[in-house]
Amino acid sequence: MNRREFLNQSAVLAGSALAAPGHLAALTAATGARPGIQEQHQGSTANFPEGFLWGIATSAFQVEGAWSEDGKGESIWDRFAHTTGKIKGGTNADVACDHYHRYPQDIEILKRINQKSFRFSIAWPRIQPTGTGAPNAKGLDHYSRVVDKLMEAGIRPFCTLYHWDLPQALEDRGGWPNRDLAGNFSDYAGILAKHLGDRITVWAPFNMPWTVAYLGYGNGAFPPGRASYTDFLKAAHTLNLAQGQAFRSIKAASSKATVGSAYGMSPAYPKTESEADKAAAERYHAFNNVYFLETALYGRYPKAFVVPTPYEEMGFRPGDERIMQVPLDWIGFHFYTRRVVEDARAARGGNAGSLATETEDTAGGGDRWTQLIAAMPTEGPLTDGGLEIWPRSIYDLVTRISRDYDHPIIEITESGCSYLDAPYARENGRVPDARRIEFFRRELPELARAIADGARVRAFHAWSLLDNFEWADGYTERYGLVYVDFRDQTRTVKDSGLWYGRVAAANRLVE
Ligand code: FCB
Repeated sequence: MNRREFLNQSAVLAGSALAAPGHLAALTAATGARPGIQEQHQGSTANFPEGFLWGIATSAFQVEGAWSEDGKGESIWDRFAHTTGKIKGGTNADVACDHYHRYPQDIEILKRINQKSFRFSIAWPRIQPTGTGAPNAKGLDHYSRVVDKLMEAGIRPFCTLYHWDLPQALEDRGGWPNRDLAGNFSDYAGILAKHLGDRITVWAPFNMPWTVAYLGYGNGAFPPGRASYTDFLKAAHTLNLAQGQAFRSIKAASSKATVGSAYGMSPAYPKTESEADKAAAERYHAFNNVYFLETALYGRYPKAFVVPTPYEEMGFRPGDERIMQVPLDWIGFHFYTRRVVEDARAARGGNAGSLATETEDTAGGGDRWTQLIAAMPTEGPLTDGGLEIWPRSIYDLVTRISRDYDHPIIEITESGCSYLDAPYARENGRVPDARRIEFFRRELPELARAIADGARVRAFHAWSLLDNFEWADGYTERYGLVYVDFRDQTRTVKDSGLWYGRVAAANRLVE
């Protein structure tokens, strides 16, 4: 199932959720907002603290192309995209936005629109083509040039070590369920910090580790396409070990390094006010939002399951708690949309055996571990990508993370929306993507309000710089602030990109 199919299914689920008595009351109570009303708390004048970092995020596989150039090895996403029937439209990312060659031009655009932080990822198979052994000098040199160019432009390089493109050779050795990969990842992290740590000071080991483990091994929507709950549990545990080990090897190789995260998070609201649904929403939060955060902060898993934590299935060994636990320097997470959650057992009158867990698994069958059903509501407007817009949720999410973990430094690592607007001849070729501007215009005051209420948010990264290869959706979604014509790689800064540039320059919302 690709993301759009998942969302469509979620919307169906949400439709029935909305019809359920008590839902609206619960939602209102949970958010304090009137359902369907987009509340704006600071109008169009939201201010941000001095030095706030306005930024944009990308990932290697989605933009670089050059898939087999300069000694790069094959990744699991190359293999997946080259497999018939996996990617919408039958496309692949062999060329994508050709950012591997065009990065100087793309960094010029970042500079032109006043960006201060660029979150990009490094493709592991460019550095170690088979995932182990000596680094490939050409790969390192490439990223070294990217970093130099960013620094010349006065832009902070924020490096994600892993945005889903595992070397295929490591998958052939068992992939993330094989705990040896934690050591391999830690070696890779050390290589990067040694060669680039004189200039990069901000590192995030994994982009959305939950997605890596669950969509890759739990329901098979993403490569390597396995669908086994035990493989998911094992993969997630290896990722947790890898996060801890990478933290240490980055710090050992670079005294300037700060290490945080880039988790995917969706605030969860109980479908009704029943204790069962409230507990299910908390399980969702533990399972989907902080499963990799609390292991780092406390060295133990959060209470995500209705059964005792399944240590045996995870492959947990004594002492693993000490490997996982590391004092993250800051907490980074994405925000796109919210979830309404109910207890699966209550929903089926105690017979939950045939119900799917979390909506990303709507295609799957019964999950006796989490016993929850999560749906994306459709009360707010939907983007062209099918995600509900509910700005208030970024306030709820940021304030919760801030409160629960004693006011850490926070970076918003991604937020954005897909709209298919294209250059318009009658407007001199401009891309009038007013809906994207409106999306940020509604969201950013909620973020400013969380900051005013004490959250120490220091950066916001819009997703994304360029229209790009949107995973299993191929080129059918457009998240960019810059339009890409994939026929000739022409870039056109959309109206939203120009607007976001003015926001960055003013450090507040502008007209
Ligand atoms: C996030 C991913 C990113 C992109 C956006 C739309 O979940 O991190 O690569 O696909 O969604």
